[in-house]
Amino acid sequence: MYDSERQTRTVETVLAALRAAAEPTRLRILSLCAGGELTVSELVRILGQSQPRVSRHLKLLVGAGLLDRVREGSWVFHRLAHDDPGGAMARQLIALLPDGAAAAPLDMDRLAEVKHERAEAAAAYFRRNAARWDDVRSLYVEEVVVEAVLRRLLPRRGVRDLLDIGTGTGRMLEVFASRAGRVQGIDLSPAMLAVARTNMERAGIANGQVRKADMYRLPFASESFDAATIHQVLHFADDPGKAIAEAARVLRPSARLLVADFAPHDLEFLRDEHEHRRLGFSDSEVAAWFKSAHLKVKDTVHLPGDPLTVTVWMGVKPGRRAAAGRRQAGKN
Ligand SMILES: C[S@@+](CC[C@H](N)C(=O)[O-])C[C@H]1O[C@@H](n2cnc3c(N)ncnc32)[C@H](O)[C@@H]1O
Repeated sequence: MYDSERQTRTVETVLAALRAAAEPTRLRILSLCAGGELTVSELVRILGQSQPRVSRHLKLLVGAGLLDRVREGSWVFHRLAHDDPGGAMARQLIALLPDGAAAAPLDMDRLAEVKHERAEAAAAYFRRNAARWDDVRSLYVEEVVVEAVLRRLLPRRGVRDLLDIGTGTGRMLEVFASRAGRVQGIDLSPAMLAVARTNMERAGIANGQVRKADMYRLPFASESFDAATIHQVLHFADDPGKAIAEAARVLRPSARLLVADFAPHDLEFLRDEHEHRRLGFSDSEVAAWFKSAHLKVKDTVHLPGDPLTVTVWMGVKPGRRAAAGRRQAGKN
């Protein structure tokens, strides 16, 4: 596209976004979505308007690039657009409002109510499962020890986008939010995602998002992330190699994959009572998966516990030049 064409396109996009935002309810919706992701029914409740009306406003805001729409089963979440110029404009417009959103103080009270109920539901789910999770956690080194290793292996700078695969309660997102431009988590379980959303809001993480997705079919283009983590997920997988290959696909050249899971063990009860499919992984098994996903094993750290050992494997994707060389060699 020529520069002049691109400029015209950008001006049209900005004008469409301004037109979409120039309506009181739609500005209220933008303010509300600045505080987190909201479903249509939550917005209906907060705004006190009918569902068709709210849906029509949302459609316009999404169409103009001010909001992103993400489907999760039968629910659809709306949040401020990530991409510019829509995302940048939405944020700038909201910043112009007194106190971010004082245009409709009642909205904020109702938003707080909705969030409180959500947090209660997430906490109830957590309470129902916490004892089971604690059982497993007591078998290995403390999480902070594993997290310290993961932190050490992730570069301090240069991580724009990080993906946490099987994010569960979003702990990895909390650990890495301050070290990356943007953190995203995916998980198959909506209940886990609800807990993750609450945890992120509570931790004040503004650069994080979660969505429902399958680790075998990640909803991202190839080469979209500078780092990915798979923390305590692979032992549930029926095809761990495929999950690693899919993670490698979405990594950019020179990006890192960090996998944390158990070393081989014989605690059969983890299968019977905790749905573990695999009783840990050997270094050679993980190295073979990394190799077929074209990742180079850069580091392997064993953290012995009683009775389980946690291992962290770090793989690195080849840089652009090495990848081009490999493609060339494949052709010749
Ligand atoms: C033990 S939890 C670990 C959560 C988190 N990574 C952590 O360490 O706190 C395992 C998570 O993997 C998720 N999971 C299992 N199979 C999955 C799949 N095929 N795609 C996405 N997530 C999956 C589960 O829903 C669960 O939340």
